[in-house]
Amino acid sequence: MDRDIQHRMYWNAGVRKEKRRERNIEKKVHTDLVWLEVEPYLHSGIKVLDAGGGYGRYGLEIARRGCELTLLDISTAMLQEAKNLAQKSGIHSIKFVEGRVQNLHQFPEQCFDLVLCLDAPISYAYPDHIRAIQEICRVSRKRVIVSVVNRLGQLPIAIELEMGWTGSLNHIRSYLEKGNWDHPEKLQQIEKKISFLNRYIFPPLHAFLPKELINMIIEQNFRPIRAMATGTLARLIKTKTLQRIVNNQKTYQQFLGICQEYDSQFEVLGVGARSASGLLVVAERNKNESNMEETHSENKA
Ligand SMILES: C[S@@+](CC[C@H](N)C(=O)[O-])C[C@H]1O[C@@H](n2cnc3c(N)ncnc32)[C@H](O)[C@@H]1O
Repeated sequence: MDRDIQHRMYWNAGVRKEKRRERNIEKKVHTDLVWLEVEPYLHSGIKVLDAGGGYGRYGLEIARRGCELTLLDISTAMLQEAKNLAQKSGIHSIKFVEGRVQNLHQFPEQCFDLVLCLDAPISYAYPDHIRAIQEICRVSRKRVIVSVVNRLGQLPIAIELEMGWTGSLNHIRSYLEKGNWDHPEKLQQIEKKISFLNRYIFPPLHAFLPKELINMIIEQNFRPIRAMATGTLARLIKTKTLQRIVNNQKTYQQFLGICQEYDSQFEVLGVGARSASGLLVVAERNKNESNMEETHSENKA
């Protein structure tokens, strides 16, 4: 089946599931950690694109802060939910766009101050994940913040799924080497006959190594200023302890600070969350000849 249709079916059927994820304590920590990375760059009036923004997990708050937000997603159901939530919250400024992160043709070059692509839309753009990075960078004037599936951190899950589906580890070495996670041939045959199965089965994706993602961003004339395997420390702590930490506001704030430091250590960059996209990069456009004018006016200011 065409991968695009496969992805749309999965995400269109997954709004409630996606919202329920927040009840998972590890995912909650992940969401809060990502927000801590995004929030410092939000200033009223800036133009933000939230590409693959889903039901607006971050988008609604970004708009509430006075940013000019465009929320793009491949899934009409996610967009509808985002619209409903925005309306309920009295937010009327968001521009909703149905589209694909690997093809942002509707936007001119460098038309956003900040482009976000959080919790793996780039990975789901597979096999066009490189194109997705090129597009995100193309439309950003200043800064991008992306988070993708962390290849090594997701390996245990790939093993669990493949053992469940085929009782073998035949594809795991290839996943480890290339990062491409496809449905096994046998499953693809079944999906062809019973297409609605795609609503329930986790779609194919590309999982990145930190070096791979960083190099791709550098190739787009951006300078990575922060890399973080979001959710690594939380993943290593017993759920019961994590719950106790989250339940106490003061301890939780301390914990988030520790995570920010721990998860950005070079030694753990290949790990990341178990239940979310565990590799985040913040990058800024290099100042070169094409934006000399801007540098000049910034210096004068
Ligand atoms: C895990 S959710 C993350 C949503 C949001 N960014 C967040 O962090 O809460 C992944 C989102 O990516 C969207 N998506 C998947 N493939 C996409 C693509 N190729 N282009 C745009 N959006 C895509 C899905 O519809 C879904 O809303």
